[in-house]
Amino acid sequence: GLVVSSLLKDTGLVTVDPGFMNTASCTSEITYIDGDQGILRYRGYPIDQLADGSTFLEVAYLLIHGELPDGPTLEAFTERVNRHTFVHEDFRTFMGTFPRAAHPMAVMASAVNALATFYPESLDPQDPETVELATVLLLAKTRTITSYLHRRRVGEPLLYPDYSRGYVDDFLRMTFARPYEQYDADPVVVEALDKLLILHADHEQNCSTSTVRIVGSAQANLYASVAAGVNALSGPLHGGANESVLLMLDKIKNAEYDVDTFMSKVKNKEDGVRLMGFGHRVYKNYDPRAAIVKKSADAVLSTLGKDDELLDIAKRLEEIALNDDYFIERKLYPNVDFYTGLIYKALGFEPAMFTPLFALGRMPGWIAQWREMMNDPQTKIGRPRQIYTGATERDYVPVSGR
Ligand code: ACO
Repeated sequence: GLVVSSLLKDTGLVTVDPGFMNTASCTSEITYIDGDQGILRYRGYPIDQLADGSTFLEVAYLLIHGELPDGPTLEAFTERVNRHTFVHEDFRTFMGTFPRAAHPMAVMASAVNALATFYPESLDPQDPETVELATVLLLAKTRTITSYLHRRRVGEPLLYPDYSRGYVDDFLRMTFARPYEQYDADPVVVEALDKLLILHADHEQNCSTSTVRIVGSAQANLYASVAAGVNALSGPLHGGANESVLLMLDKIKNAEYDVDTFMSKVKNKEDGVRLMGFGHRVYKNYDPRAAIVKKSADAVLSTLGKDDELLDIAKRLEEIALNDDYFIERKLYPNVDFYTGLIYKALGFEPAMFTPLFALGRMPGWIAQWREMMNDPQTKIGRPRQIYTGATERDYVPVSGR
Protein backbone atom coordinates (compact mmCIF):
# COMPACT_ATOMS: atom_id res chain seq x y z
CA GLY A 1 0.00 0.00 0.00
CA LEU A 2 0.88 3.66 -0.30
CA VAL A 3 2.92 4.93 2.62
CA VAL A 4 3.76 8.63 2.75
CA SER A 5 5.65 10.01 5.65
CA SER A 6 6.19 13.43 7.03
CA LEU A 7 8.14 14.89 9.91
CA LEU A 8 5.88 16.62 12.44
CA LYS A 9 7.39 18.97 14.99
CA ASP A 10 5.98 17.29 18.10
CA THR A 11 6.18 13.56 17.32
CA GLY A 12 8.81 13.15 14.63
CA LEU A 13 8.06 10.81 11.75
CA VAL A 14 4.38 10.31 10.87
CA THR A 15 3.30 7.85 8.17
CA VAL A 16 0.15 8.08 6.07
CA ASP A 17 -1.31 4.62 5.72
CA PRO A 18 -4.79 4.82 4.11
CA GLY A 19 -6.99 1.99 5.32
CA PHE A 20 -4.27 1.06 7.86
CA MET A 21 -2.86 -1.55 5.48
CA ASN A 22 0.44 -1.69 7.39
CA THR A 23 -0.41 -0.21 10.77
CA ALA A 24 -1.10 -2.34 13.86
CA SER A 25 -3.15 -0.43 16.40
CA CYS A 26 -2.51 -2.80 19.30
CA THR A 27 -1.09 -6.11 20.43
CA SER A 28 -3.69 -8.79 21.16
CA GLU A 29 -3.83 -12.32 22.55
CA ILE A 30 -7.31 -13.13 21.31
CA THR A 31 -7.38 -14.11 17.64
CA TYR A 32 -4.65 -15.28 15.27
CA ILE A 33 -5.03 -15.01 11.49
CA ASP A 34 -2.53 -16.12 8.85
CA GLY A 35 -4.07 -14.63 5.72
CA ASP A 36 -1.69 -16.31 3.29
CA GLN A 37 -2.34 -19.78 4.59
CA GLY A 38 -6.00 -19.26 5.48
CA ILE A 39 -5.58 -19.99 9.21
CA LEU A 40 -7.87 -18.65 11.95
CA ARG A 41 -7.58 -19.48 15.65
CA TYR A 42 -9.36 -18.16 18.73
CA ARG A 43 -7.01 -18.15 21.74
CA GLY A 44 -4.92 -20.76 19.91
CA TYR A 45 -7.77 -23.14 19.05
CA PRO A 46 -8.27 -23.78 15.30
CA ILE A 47 -11.61 -22.45 14.07
CA ASP A 48 -12.66 -25.77 12.52
CA GLN A 49 -12.24 -27.59 15.85
CA LEU A 50 -14.33 -24.99 17.66
CA ALA A 51 -16.99 -24.98 14.92
CA ASP A 52 -17.19 -28.78 15.08
CA GLY A 53 -17.03 -29.38 18.81
CA SER A 54 -17.93 -26.26 20.76
CA THR A 55 -21.00 -24.11 21.35
CA PHE A 56 -21.47 -20.38 20.94
CA LEU A 57 -21.58 -19.48 24.63
CA GLU A 58 -18.53 -21.64 25.34
CA VAL A 59 -16.64 -19.82 22.57
CA ALA A 60 -17.87 -16.50 23.96
CA TYR A 61 -16.43 -17.44 27.34
CA LEU A 62 -13.16 -18.53 25.73
CA LEU A 63 -12.76 -15.27 23.80
CA ILE A 64 -13.67 -13.08 26.75
CA HIS A 65 -11.86 -14.94 29.55
CA GLY A 66 -8.98 -16.52 27.64
CA GLU A 67 -9.53 -20.19 28.54
CA LEU A 68 -12.22 -22.78 27.87
CA PRO A 69 -14.53 -23.04 30.90
CA ASP A 70 -14.81 -26.28 32.89
CA GLY A 71 -18.28 -27.85 33.24
CA PRO A 72 -19.55 -25.97 36.32
CA THR A 73 -18.12 -22.65 35.07
CA LEU A 74 -19.85 -23.03 31.71
CA GLU A 75 -23.10 -23.98 33.42
CA ALA A 76 -22.95 -20.95 35.71
CA PHE A 77 -22.09 -18.63 32.82
CA THR A 78 -24.92 -20.03 30.66
CA GLU A 79 -27.38 -19.72 33.50
CA ARG A 80 -26.35 -16.15 34.21
CA VAL A 81 -26.74 -15.16 30.56
CA ASN A 82 -30.11 -16.94 30.33
CA ARG A 83 -31.41 -15.19 33.45
CA HIS A 84 -30.78 -11.82 31.83
CA THR A 85 -32.51 -12.46 28.53
CA PHE A 86 -35.69 -10.62 29.57
CA VAL A 87 -35.81 -6.98 28.58
CA HIS A 88 -37.60 -4.28 30.55
CA GLU A 89 -41.15 -3.71 29.27
CA ASP A 90 -40.26 -0.08 28.50
CA PHE A 91 -37.40 -1.34 26.39
CA ARG A 92 -39.85 -3.33 24.34
CA THR A 93 -42.02 -0.25 23.94
CA PHE A 94 -38.95 1.72 22.90
CA MET A 95 -38.06 -0.80 20.21
CA GLY A 96 -41.66 -0.76 19.02
CA THR A 97 -41.46 2.94 18.19
CA PHE A 98 -39.19 2.55 15.17
CA PRO A 99 -40.91 2.43 11.78
CA ARG A 100 -41.53 -1.20 10.88
CA ALA A 101 -39.79 -0.84 7.54
CA ALA A 102 -36.63 0.52 9.20
CA HIS A 103 -33.47 -1.40 8.44
CA PRO A 104 -32.92 -3.73 11.41
CA MET A 105 -29.23 -2.77 11.68
CA ALA A 106 -30.22 0.84 12.43
CA VAL A 107 -32.71 -0.38 15.05
CA MET A 108 -30.14 -2.79 16.49
CA ALA A 109 -27.46 -0.11 16.90
CA SER A 110 -30.01 2.17 18.58
CA ALA A 111 -31.18 -0.64 20.86
CA VAL A 112 -27.65 -1.60 21.93
CA ASN A 113 -26.88 2.05 22.61
CA ALA A 114 -30.10 2.36 24.61
CA LEU A 115 -29.05 -0.47 26.96
CA ALA A 116 -26.90 2.14 28.69
CA THR A 117 -30.06 4.08 29.57
CA PHE A 118 -31.87 1.02 30.98
CA TYR A 119 -28.95 -0.46 32.92
CA PRO A 120 -27.07 2.51 34.39
CA GLU A 121 -25.63 0.25 37.11
CA SER A 122 -23.49 -1.49 34.48
CA LEU A 123 -21.60 1.43 32.98
CA ASP A 124 -18.33 1.85 34.90
CA PRO A 125 -15.54 0.68 32.56
CA GLN A 126 -13.05 0.54 35.45
CA ASP A 127 -14.91 -1.81 37.79
CA PRO A 128 -14.37 -5.52 36.89
CA GLU A 129 -17.70 -6.69 38.37
CA THR A 130 -19.61 -4.03 36.50
CA VAL A 131 -17.81 -4.93 33.28
CA GLU A 132 -18.72 -8.60 33.82
CA LEU A 133 -22.35 -7.57 34.35
CA ALA A 134 -22.36 -5.49 31.16
CA THR A 135 -20.80 -8.45 29.33
CA VAL A 136 -23.55 -10.81 30.43
CA LEU A 137 -26.27 -8.23 29.77
CA LEU A 138 -25.01 -7.61 26.25
CA LEU A 139 -24.85 -11.30 25.34
CA ALA A 140 -28.30 -11.84 26.82
CA LYS A 141 -30.17 -8.75 25.63
CA THR A 142 -28.74 -8.79 22.11
CA ARG A 143 -30.25 -12.19 21.59
CA THR A 144 -33.69 -10.89 22.60
CA ILE A 145 -33.20 -7.71 20.55
CA THR A 146 -32.30 -9.73 17.45
CA SER A 147 -35.35 -11.97 17.67
CA TYR A 148 -37.53 -8.90 18.20
CA LEU A 149 -36.03 -7.27 15.09
CA HIS A 150 -37.47 -10.14 13.06
CA ARG A 151 -40.81 -10.20 14.85
CA ARG A 152 -41.42 -6.50 14.41
CA ARG A 153 -40.87 -6.84 10.69
CA VAL A 154 -43.45 -9.61 10.42
CA GLY A 155 -45.82 -7.91 12.87
CA GLU A 156 -45.74 -10.52 15.62
CA PRO A 157 -45.43 -9.90 19.37
CA LEU A 158 -42.19 -10.32 21.24
CA LEU A 159 -42.06 -13.67 22.99
CA TYR A 160 -40.60 -14.09 26.45
CA PRO A 161 -37.44 -16.12 26.95
CA ASP A 162 -37.53 -19.70 28.21
CA TYR A 163 -34.64 -20.30 30.63
CA SER A 164 -34.75 -24.02 30.24
CA ARG A 165 -33.56 -23.91 26.63
CA GLY A 166 -30.14 -23.32 25.14
CA TYR A 167 -29.00 -19.93 23.85
CA VAL A 168 -29.48 -20.68 20.15
CA ASP A 169 -32.43 -23.02 20.61
CA ASP A 170 -34.42 -20.39 22.50
CA PHE A 171 -33.34 -17.64 20.11
CA LEU A 172 -34.93 -19.61 17.26
CA ARG A 173 -38.08 -20.20 19.29
CA MET A 174 -38.38 -16.52 20.23
CA THR A 175 -37.85 -15.59 16.59
CA PHE A 176 -40.07 -18.07 14.79
CA ALA A 177 -42.65 -19.54 17.19
CA ARG A 178 -46.24 -18.45 16.74
CA PRO A 179 -47.80 -17.19 19.97
CA TYR A 180 -49.26 -20.08 22.04
CA GLU A 181 -47.81 -22.65 19.68
CA GLN A 182 -45.38 -25.35 20.72
CA TYR A 183 -42.16 -24.78 18.81
CA ASP A 184 -39.12 -26.98 18.76
CA ALA A 185 -36.36 -26.00 16.42
CA ASP A 186 -34.94 -28.76 14.24
CA PRO A 187 -31.62 -29.83 15.84
CA VAL A 188 -29.98 -29.47 12.41
CA VAL A 189 -31.05 -25.84 12.36
CA VAL A 190 -29.86 -25.21 15.93
CA GLU A 191 -26.48 -26.72 15.14
CA ALA A 192 -26.11 -24.79 11.88
CA LEU A 193 -26.87 -21.44 13.51
CA ASP A 194 -24.64 -22.21 16.51
CA LYS A 195 -21.80 -22.95 14.10
CA LEU A 196 -22.37 -19.72 12.17
CA LEU A 197 -22.32 -17.67 15.36
CA ILE A 198 -19.03 -19.35 16.37
CA LEU A 199 -17.50 -18.57 12.97
CA HIS A 200 -18.41 -14.90 13.34
CA ALA A 201 -17.39 -14.53 16.99
CA ASP A 202 -14.12 -12.68 16.44
CA HIS A 203 -11.81 -11.61 13.65
CA GLU A 204 -9.17 -9.40 15.28
CA GLN A 205 -8.84 -5.78 14.15
CA ASN A 206 -11.51 -5.58 11.42
CA CYS A 207 -13.42 -2.35 10.79
CA SER A 208 -16.10 -2.80 13.47
CA THR A 209 -13.73 -4.14 16.13
CA SER A 210 -11.26 -1.33 15.55
CA THR A 211 -14.23 1.03 15.91
CA VAL A 212 -15.22 -0.56 19.23
CA ARG A 213 -11.66 -0.19 20.48
CA ILE A 214 -11.26 3.41 19.40
CA VAL A 215 -14.56 4.46 20.97
CA GLY A 216 -13.66 2.57 24.14
CA SER A 217 -10.22 4.16 24.22
CA ALA A 218 -11.99 7.40 25.16
CA GLN A 219 -13.32 5.42 28.20
CA ALA A 220 -16.80 5.28 26.67
CA ASN A 221 -18.90 2.51 28.23
CA LEU A 222 -19.21 -0.96 26.70
CA TYR A 223 -22.68 -0.37 25.17
CA ALA A 224 -21.63 2.90 23.53
CA SER A 225 -18.51 1.23 22.13
CA VAL A 226 -20.32 -1.86 20.85
CA ALA A 227 -23.17 0.20 19.34
CA ALA A 228 -20.52 2.00 17.28
CA GLY A 229 -19.29 -1.43 16.17
CA VAL A 230 -22.80 -2.41 15.07
CA ASN A 231 -22.94 0.71 12.92
CA ALA A 232 -19.56 -0.03 11.34
CA LEU A 233 -20.67 -3.60 10.65
CA SER A 234 -23.72 -2.37 8.74
CA GLY A 235 -21.58 -1.21 5.80
CA PRO A 236 -21.80 -3.34 2.64
CA LEU A 237 -18.01 -3.65 2.47
CA HIS A 238 -18.07 -5.23 5.95
CA GLY A 239 -20.90 -7.19 7.60
CA GLY A 240 -23.48 -5.79 5.22
CA ALA A 241 -21.90 -7.96 2.52
CA ASN A 242 -23.93 -11.03 3.55
CA GLU A 243 -27.15 -9.22 2.65
CA SER A 244 -25.61 -7.81 -0.55
CA VAL A 245 -24.54 -11.31 -1.65
CA LEU A 246 -28.08 -12.60 -1.51
CA LEU A 247 -29.49 -9.58 -3.33
CA MET A 248 -26.79 -10.10 -5.99
CA LEU A 249 -27.65 -13.80 -6.38
CA ASP A 250 -31.34 -12.94 -6.54
CA LYS A 251 -30.73 -10.47 -9.36
CA ILE A 252 -28.87 -13.11 -11.32
CA LYS A 253 -31.61 -15.66 -10.68
CA ASN A 254 -34.30 -13.25 -11.78
CA ALA A 255 -32.41 -12.91 -15.03
CA GLU A 256 -31.62 -9.28 -14.51
CA TYR A 257 -28.28 -10.44 -15.86
CA ASP A 258 -26.76 -13.86 -16.52
CA VAL A 259 -23.66 -15.09 -14.73
CA ASP A 260 -21.25 -14.25 -17.57
CA THR A 261 -22.57 -10.74 -18.15
CA PHE A 262 -22.42 -10.14 -14.43
CA MET A 263 -18.83 -11.37 -14.19
CA SER A 264 -17.70 -9.19 -17.08
CA LYS A 265 -19.32 -6.19 -15.38
CA VAL A 266 -17.35 -7.02 -12.22
CA LYS A 267 -14.06 -7.39 -14.08
CA ASN A 268 -14.58 -4.18 -16.07
CA LYS A 269 -15.50 -2.45 -12.81
CA GLU A 270 -18.67 -1.17 -14.46
CA ASP A 271 -20.78 0.99 -12.13
CA GLY A 272 -18.47 -0.09 -9.29
CA VAL A 273 -20.00 -3.59 -9.31
CA ARG A 274 -18.04 -6.07 -7.18
CA LEU A 275 -18.49 -9.75 -6.68
CA MET A 276 -19.91 -9.42 -3.17
CA GLY A 277 -18.66 -12.00 -0.68
CA PHE A 278 -15.30 -12.16 -2.44
CA GLY A 279 -12.00 -10.64 -1.39
CA HIS A 280 -10.61 -9.81 2.00
CA ARG A 281 -8.06 -7.39 3.40
CA VAL A 282 -6.22 -10.15 5.25
CA TYR A 283 -7.07 -13.46 3.55
CA LYS A 284 -5.17 -13.88 0.31
CA ASN A 285 -6.24 -17.51 0.29
CA TYR A 286 -9.55 -19.31 0.88
CA ASP A 287 -11.20 -17.85 4.01
CA PRO A 288 -11.28 -20.87 6.37
CA ARG A 289 -14.71 -19.77 7.59
CA ALA A 290 -16.07 -19.77 4.03
CA ALA A 291 -14.91 -23.38 3.58
CA ILE A 292 -16.85 -24.45 6.69
CA VAL A 293 -19.93 -22.44 5.73
CA LYS A 294 -19.96 -23.86 2.21
CA LYS A 295 -20.04 -27.42 3.58
CA SER A 296 -22.68 -26.45 6.10
CA ALA A 297 -24.84 -24.79 3.39
CA ASP A 298 -24.84 -28.03 1.43
CA ALA A 299 -25.78 -30.05 4.52
CA VAL A 300 -28.48 -27.67 5.79
CA LEU A 301 -30.18 -27.21 2.44
CA SER A 302 -30.28 -30.93 1.72
CA THR A 303 -31.45 -31.85 5.25
CA LEU A 304 -34.20 -29.24 5.17
CA GLY A 305 -35.11 -30.44 1.69
CA LYS A 306 -34.54 -26.95 0.27
CA ASP A 307 -33.20 -27.06 -3.22
CA ASP A 308 -31.97 -23.53 -3.53
CA GLU A 309 -31.15 -22.42 -7.04
CA LEU A 310 -29.18 -19.59 -5.49
CA LEU A 311 -26.67 -22.08 -4.06
CA ASP A 312 -26.03 -23.37 -7.57
CA ILE A 313 -25.54 -19.82 -8.86
CA ALA A 314 -23.13 -19.09 -6.00
CA LYS A 315 -21.13 -22.23 -6.75
CA ARG A 316 -20.98 -21.33 -10.43
CA LEU A 317 -19.76 -17.83 -9.63
CA GLU A 318 -17.11 -19.27 -7.34
CA GLU A 319 -15.94 -21.74 -9.96
CA ILE A 320 -15.64 -19.06 -12.61
CA ALA A 321 -13.82 -16.72 -10.23
CA LEU A 322 -11.33 -19.30 -9.00
CA ASN A 323 -10.31 -20.01 -12.62
CA ASP A 324 -10.21 -16.42 -13.83
CA ASP A 325 -7.01 -14.35 -14.04
CA TYR A 326 -8.71 -11.20 -12.70
CA PHE A 327 -9.47 -12.98 -9.40
CA ILE A 328 -6.30 -15.10 -9.35
CA GLU A 329 -3.99 -12.09 -9.79
CA ARG A 330 -5.75 -10.16 -7.04
CA LYS A 331 -5.98 -13.22 -4.78
CA LEU A 332 -9.73 -12.87 -4.39
CA TYR A 333 -11.42 -15.86 -2.75
CA PRO A 334 -14.84 -16.32 -1.14
CA ASN A 335 -15.02 -14.72 2.30
CA VAL A 336 -17.28 -15.75 5.18
CA ASP A 337 -20.20 -13.81 3.75
CA PHE A 338 -20.39 -15.61 0.41
CA TYR A 339 -22.41 -18.62 1.60
CA THR A 340 -23.86 -17.55 4.97
CA GLY A 341 -26.91 -15.81 3.49
CA LEU A 342 -28.00 -19.02 1.83
CA ILE A 343 -28.10 -20.77 5.19
CA TYR A 344 -29.86 -17.88 6.94
CA LYS A 345 -32.42 -17.88 4.13
CA ALA A 346 -32.98 -21.63 4.48
CA LEU A 347 -33.48 -21.12 8.24
CA GLY A 348 -36.27 -18.62 7.50
CA PHE A 349 -34.53 -15.23 7.80
CA GLU A 350 -35.06 -12.49 5.25
CA PRO A 351 -31.96 -10.73 3.84
CA ALA A 352 -32.31 -7.62 6.04
CA MET A 353 -31.81 -9.88 9.08
CA PHE A 354 -28.50 -11.34 7.90
CA THR A 355 -26.27 -8.56 9.19
CA PRO A 356 -27.98 -8.44 12.62
CA LEU A 357 -27.22 -12.17 12.86
CA PHE A 358 -23.58 -11.39 12.11
CA ALA A 359 -23.68 -8.76 14.89
CA LEU A 360 -25.16 -11.29 17.33
CA GLY A 361 -22.26 -13.61 16.51
CA ARG A 362 -19.60 -10.89 16.70
CA MET A 363 -20.76 -9.70 20.13
CA PRO A 364 -18.27 -11.83 22.16
CA GLY A 365 -15.39 -10.63 19.99
CA TRP A 366 -16.26 -6.97 20.42
CA ILE A 367 -16.62 -7.46 24.17
CA ALA A 368 -13.36 -9.44 24.47
CA GLN A 369 -11.42 -6.86 22.47
CA TRP A 370 -12.87 -3.95 24.44
CA ARG A 371 -11.98 -5.65 27.72
CA GLU A 372 -8.48 -6.51 26.56
CA MET A 373 -7.94 -2.89 25.54
CA MET A 374 -9.28 -1.55 28.86
CA ASN A 375 -6.88 -3.81 30.78
CA ASP A 376 -3.86 -3.11 28.60
CA PRO A 377 -1.44 -0.69 30.29
CA GLN A 378 -0.27 0.39 26.81
CA THR A 379 -3.74 1.74 25.90
CA LYS A 380 -3.98 5.42 25.15
CA ILE A 381 -6.85 7.32 23.61
CA GLY A 382 -6.97 6.48 19.88
CA ARG A 383 -6.00 9.59 18.04
CA PRO A 384 -4.41 9.19 14.59
CA ARG A 385 -2.44 12.03 13.05
CA GLN A 386 -2.95 13.55 9.60
CA ILE A 387 -0.88 15.39 7.07
CA TYR A 388 -2.59 18.65 6.25
CA THR A 389 -2.93 19.38 2.53
CA GLY A 390 -5.38 22.30 2.57
CA ALA A 391 -5.02 26.04 2.00
CA THR A 392 -2.22 28.00 3.64
CA GLU A 393 -3.18 30.93 5.86
CA ARG A 394 -5.55 33.45 4.26
CA ASP A 395 -7.70 36.32 5.48
CA TYR A 396 -11.45 36.09 6.09
CA VAL A 397 -13.55 38.10 3.61
CA PRO A 398 -17.10 39.14 4.70
CA VAL A 399 -19.87 37.69 2.52
CA SER A 400 -20.57 41.10 0.93
CA GLY A 401 -17.03 41.17 -0.40
CA ARG A 402 -16.96 37.65 -1.92
N1 ACO B 1 -14.97 -8.04 -6.73
C1 ACO B 1 -14.21 -7.54 -7.71
N2 ACO B 1 -13.03 -6.96 -7.53
C2 ACO B 1 -12.56 -6.88 -6.29
C3 ACO B 1 -13.28 -7.39 -5.19
C4 ACO B 1 -14.54 -7.99 -5.44
N3 ACO B 1 -15.28 -8.49 -4.45
N4 ACO B 1 -12.59 -7.18 -4.06
C5 ACO B 1 -11.47 -6.56 -4.42
N5 ACO B 1 -11.44 -6.38 -5.77
C6 ACO B 1 -10.35 -5.80 -6.56
C7 ACO B 1 -10.32 -4.30 -6.42
O1 ACO B 1 -11.09 -3.68 -7.42
C8 ACO B 1 -8.84 -4.02 -6.58
O2 ACO B 1 -8.53 -4.11 -7.94
P1 ACO B 1 -7.38 -3.14 -8.58
O3 ACO B 1 -6.09 -3.59 -7.97
O4 ACO B 1 -7.49 -3.41 -10.04
O5 ACO B 1 -7.77 -1.75 -8.22
C9 ACO B 1 -8.18 -5.20 -5.88
O6 ACO B 1 -9.13 -6.27 -5.99
C10 ACO B 1 -7.86 -4.98 -4.40
O7 ACO B 1 -9.06 -4.57 -3.76
P2 ACO B 1 -9.14 -3.50 -2.59
O8 ACO B 1 -10.51 -2.91 -2.59
O9 ACO B 1 -7.97 -2.56 -2.71
O10 ACO B 1 -8.93 -4.46 -1.35
P3 ACO B 1 -9.25 -4.10 0.14
O11 ACO B 1 -8.39 -4.94 0.99
O12 ACO B 1 -9.22 -2.62 0.36
O13 ACO B 1 -10.80 -4.52 0.29
C11 ACO B 1 -12.74 -5.79 0.66
C12 ACO B 1 -11.22 -5.68 0.87
C13 ACO B 1 -13.43 -4.49 1.14
C14 ACO B 1 -13.29 -6.95 1.47
C15 ACO B 1 -13.02 -6.00 -0.86
O14 ACO B 1 -12.43 -7.21 -1.29
C16 ACO B 1 -14.50 -5.98 -1.21
O15 ACO B 1 -15.08 -4.90 -1.42
N6 ACO B 1 -15.18 -7.18 -1.27
C17 ACO B 1 -16.60 -7.24 -1.53
C18 ACO B 1 -17.37 -6.92 -0.26
C19 ACO B 1 -17.29 -8.03 0.77
O16 ACO B 1 -17.50 -9.21 0.46
N7 ACO B 1 -17.02 -7.65 2.02
C20 ACO B 1 -16.96 -8.60 3.14
C21 ACO B 1 -15.58 -8.70 3.67
S1 ACO B 1 -15.49 -9.90 4.94
C22 ACO B 1 -16.23 -9.23 6.27
O17 ACO B 1 -16.31 -8.04 6.47
C23 ACO B 1 -16.78 -10.12 7.18
